[in-house]
Amino acid sequence: MIDTVMSKQFPVSVLFVCLGNICRSPTAHGVFLKCLADEGLQHQVEVDSAGTAAYHVGNPPDPRSTMVAARRGYDLSPLRARAVEGADFEQYHYILAMDQQNLNFLKAMAPVNFTGHLSLFLDFADSVDAREVPDPYYTDGDKGFELVVDMIEDASAGLIRHIRARHAG
Ligand code: 4NP
Repeated sequence: MIDTVMSKQFPVSVLFVCLGNICRSPTAHGVFLKCLADEGLQHQVEVDSAGTAAYHVGNPPDPRSTMVAARRGYDLSPLRARAVEGADFEQYHYILAMDQQNLNFLKAMAPVNFTGHLSLFLDFADSVDAREVPDPYYTDGDKGFELVVDMIEDASAGLIRHIRARHAG
């Protein structure tokens, strides 16, 4: 079914979505790109991220996200925020929300003929019990941002295993 979604260049495409596209989804974007590169899959999977709100369009990721990610080997510096748009449902096979509120927004926005995969990103996590990546934006210190990376690393490994199993060949 997913194969009926047209992707121009890559066999598989993944869009990560949060609210502002400056904390959680760019972290997922940067971490997942690095995981793909480590596995030699960077040319097989297209990755992008977007926000359901447009407050921060054109902005780089939150400096706290960029710093915590950099300490752990992930480069978020080239990323810029954008808002999710209708065309994303034609382009992306996997649209993965960081929390239920954003998933609800995406479900309401999805065209009836969308045949891709729309779910919470943490559905792909093995070790993490939580279903949602908590919004770190209003938290003090780095702890919330570290937790975001922990959860995203786990879900990224699971998503790569899923993509390998589903789209091998
Ligand atoms: P994100 O975090 O959805 O993970 O990018 C947020 C960033 C900004 C705001 C809320 C959440 N904000 O209200 O501006």
